[in-house]
Amino acid sequence: MNILTFETNEELNQNGASIIASLVQTKPHAVLGLATGSTPIGIYQELIRLCGKGYVSFKQVTSYNLDEYVGLPADHSETYRTFMNKQLFDHIDIDKANTHVPNGNAADLQAESKRYDQMLFDASIDLQLLGLGHNGHIGFNEPDRHLQSGTHVVTLKEETRQANKRFFNSIDEVPTQAITMGVGSILKAKMIMLVVRGADKADIVHRALTGPITTDIPASLLQTHPNVVVLLDKEAAKHFHE
Ligand code: F6R
Repeated sequence: MNILTFETNEELNQNGASIIASLVQTKPHAVLGLATGSTPIGIYQELIRLCGKGYVSFKQVTSYNLDEYVGLPADHSETYRTFMNKQLFDHIDIDKANTHVPNGNAADLQAESKRYDQMLFDASIDLQLLGLGHNGHIGFNEPDRHLQSGTHVVTLKEETRQANKRFFNSIDEVPTQAITMGVGSILKAKMIMLVVRGADKADIVHRALTGPITTDIPASLLQTHPNVVVLLDKEAAKHFHE
């Protein structure tokens, strides 16, 4: 595992974006696994800049997002589809028909999970971008006695809903369920890029990457993957340098 620490957010964003852009430059048909939340926004902004300057083109790229809330109206500002359009897809030359986010409004969510898994199986992700939850979740794979391999519906932990309420008017508006790629789907990616920012995640990222592998910290399973790069800001990295 390659753990990189950056002094500034700007450097972190540039390096994260350059890993993705280099992949797409050498493999124009690359399949990207993407994440939402606050963590990747700076990297997306840098990718928008590189694409605008003509350094990279996403015309032939396909993307699969990790997760989506269940039950938010499709035009709601906080669906992960809206987030991706606003933060990235609307500003680069990707064909939106090639961008995939699980459908959290499907009438049959089990069937939707199966459909998404089949697409992931056929596509094979080259690079999966991940953020990290305060409780160690990746995607919306929450700490539990058992973790699921494939795409599935999950009930969000109270701490996750609390963490995400900053994007909503009140906690009551935060959905209670989501549909997420499973850990098996995530670990099948050829390369994984985990990005973690902030002192409030210093402890969990250190435990996830250096402690025992446990379903109590889903991100600890990343230790089993042969090709993980971790990008940390200096606050999140503080326990790695003690
Ligand atoms: C987002 C996702 C989540 C977030 C995590 C961190 O698609 O799957 O695992 O990456 O909750 O969120 P932020 O970046 O908002 O701290």
